[in-house]
Amino acid sequence: MTGSPLPTTVPTTVPTTVPTTVPTTVHTRPTSTDAAAGGSASPRRLAADLAAREQLWRPHVRFSHPRHYTRLLARPGWEAWLLTWLPRQSTGLHDHGGSAGAFAVLEGALDEVVLVGGEGGALGVRRFAHGEVRAFGARHVHDVTATEGTAVSLHVYAPALTRMTRYALQDGQLLTIASERAGTDW
Ligand SMILES: [Fe+2]
Repeated sequence: MTGSPLPTTVPTTVPTTVPTTVPTTVHTRPTSTDAAAGGSASPRRLAADLAAREQLWRPHVRFSHPRHYTRLLARPGWEAWLLTWLPRQSTGLHDHGGSAGAFAVLEGALDEVVLVGGEGGALGVRRFAHGEVRAFGARHVHDVTATEGTAVSLHVYAPALTRMTRYALQDGQLLTIASERAGTDW
């Protein structure tokens, strides 16, 4: 995999390098048989509600290289994952295959890098701290990093993730570098 130069419009607040390395991840399949929950609630609402259920996610917190994640719940129309982050671990730029979603920061903080205004736009970064929830639409592309310290986050996808595309940036444009599918790549 090759790195990609940042566009010259990168704000000074953006890290001087954007991670383009796709981390290999470790995951476990869900064993939970919790009763269905959520109904037609939004990913934001689901993420916030599940974040408050510490007994649900706390037992799955573990930090590792490669980055650890596990699916907590799978329900008709949505699913929830717990992700843990060591310092500097990141997702790389990716989409969610048409799923909308939200993530709640349970511990630490996460920095999200996005292309402001879409392709050709400037990179923007926003920090989400413990207690915050970030919701995003079905076409959202982002790179999430635990820039400082460890972090724990809970992610909801609706519908459940079935595929993801990973990108690098080339002259401000998204260059597809990998396509991944549920059941094969995670
Ligand atoms: Fe994501």
